Amino acid sequence: MIPALRADLDAARYRVDHLDSLWGAAAEAALLRGNRVPASRALAASRDPAAVLARLFVLGETADAATLAAALPTLGVTGAVQLGLVERDGDRIRPLIDLRPYAFVDTHGAGEWWIASDLGELATGAALRVDHVLGVGGASTTLAALQFPDDVETVLDLGTGCGIQALHARRFARRVVATDVSERALGFARLNAELNGIDGIEFRLGSLYEPVAGERFDRIVSNPPFVITPRSPEVPAYEYRDGGLVGDALVASVVAGAAEHLTPGGTAQLLGNWEYRWNVDGLERAADWATAAGLDVWIIERDRLDPARYAETWIRDGGTRAGTPEFERLCAAWIDDFAVRGVTEVGFGYLVLRRPVTDAARGFRRVERASAPLEGVTGIGAHLSAALTARDAVAALDDAELLAARLRVAPDVTEERSHWPGAEDPSVIVLRQGGGLRRELRADPALAAVVGACDGELPLGVIVDAVAELLDIDPASMRPALVAEARELVIDGILQPVP
Ligand SMILES: C[S@@+](CC[C@H](N)C(=O)[O-])C[C@H]1O[C@@H](n2cnc3c(N)ncnc32)[C@H](O)[C@@H]1O
Repeated sequence: MIPALRADLDAARYRVDHLDSLWGAAAEAALLRGNRVPASRALAASRDPAAVLARLFVLGETADAATLAAALPTLGVTGAVQLGLVERDGDRIRPLIDLRPYAFVDTHGAGEWWIASDLGELATGAALRVDHVLGVGGASTTLAALQFPDDVETVLDLGTGCGIQALHARRFARRVVATDVSERALGFARLNAELNGIDGIEFRLGSLYEPVAGERFDRIVSNPPFVITPRSPEVPAYEYRDGGLVGDALVASVVAGAAEHLTPGGTAQLLGNWEYRWNVDGLERAADWATAAGLDVWIIERDRLDPARYAETWIRDGGTRAGTPEFERLCAAWIDDFAVRGVTEVGFGYLVLRRPVTDAARGFRRVERASAPLEGVTGIGAHLSAALTARDAVAALDDAELLAARLRVAPDVTEERSHWPGAEDPSVIVLRQGGGLRRELRADPALAAVVGACDGELPLGVIVDAVAELLDIDPASMRPALVAEARELVIDGILQPVP
């Protein structure tokens, strides 16, 4: 039956660009804001099979049986009922799942899949059930973009949900193991793999690393249920976002467990939340989870919320609106829970881990706050993978060797200078990176001059000395700081070694 469904979706041109052309950009934007009315109006009179399917499986509207039969000529209404896509009440058909096209681009090129999941709040008009299986959301596309694109043998997708990370991982791995505590989630993930003709993914039921005890993987990817939730019977524990532990302990467990399940040199790309507590920096706490497990770690914090904002975000996500008594009761539970641990803020971002090849090779630890918004930025995984390689190369050079190296400023770097009116010297110099993490770096005149002169011709040491002379500074006093900064700029991809 799944091949019949695939044939019908294909014939209906049930694709992202076709739907966009049917409902238009404004309706698409409204849908992303949680408003289905413009899309519903745009599709109302259309008999295009893709419009019929989108009304049902994206907007959650009912259809009459004859209309659906025309849109699914191979599978038929009976087949759709048997597959659990819809239920029939006389002549009326009601959707039981969300099913929509999803398009992406990665280093292998452009691709498009159909992804089935539970119907969301927008379609049902009701708060989510606690065993809700998420479709592809903002966090899913963020982690998909964070996955390293290097070819490997094996990948573990922990907490696969509808299977979206496993499908992405399979483009770069010969074998993928996808786990979840939810049998319903695994059902959707299996359906999505089969519907899109993707093999090589093994689905296993169980919590955290239990289903892969004793196994190691070249890569682990996880968008774990990281949402911090008060542990009280009155607060709903949504399976898709809450791992059932106190505070950020679930993310700590995923990080710590990675050490036992990565091959030497293997990496993990995770999303997570971490708590800032009185006098304790959240980023350093999160990095300590990895360091204690013997892993290299690089954490990039994308966002930070105070307890009230955090509570509002996740109470709303569960379908409870502000201003209702239920909202106020839940918000109080969140704030009380944070107070117990002295939580002042909650950070969100990316964790990249690496199991060192040898114990001696261990020691990379970097935590940072993104200097530019990263939402929707693609290719971050490729950038970070290259950055780790660059880090290893630069770590192998002592200062004298780095000063003898020739470096080139990357083509996506621009420099911005701000001057007080009438002043000859700039008051601020900023180096901006067009790709990668879109870094914005404040540079002093010496660093800006060195970066500007790195054209791949002269060794770094010669440039540093020339800049020191120009600025009338003792070169010996300038070298150590500039060499240290050059190391970081090579890792960031702002300076590139010339072979
Ligand atoms: C935020 S969803 C991520 C879904 C999907 N991987 C994505 O990126 O969109 C988290 C998933 O973890 C699963 N989960 C919850 N607790 C878990 C646990 N203890 N061990 C493994 N998976 C768990 C949930 O059922 C859910 O499918």
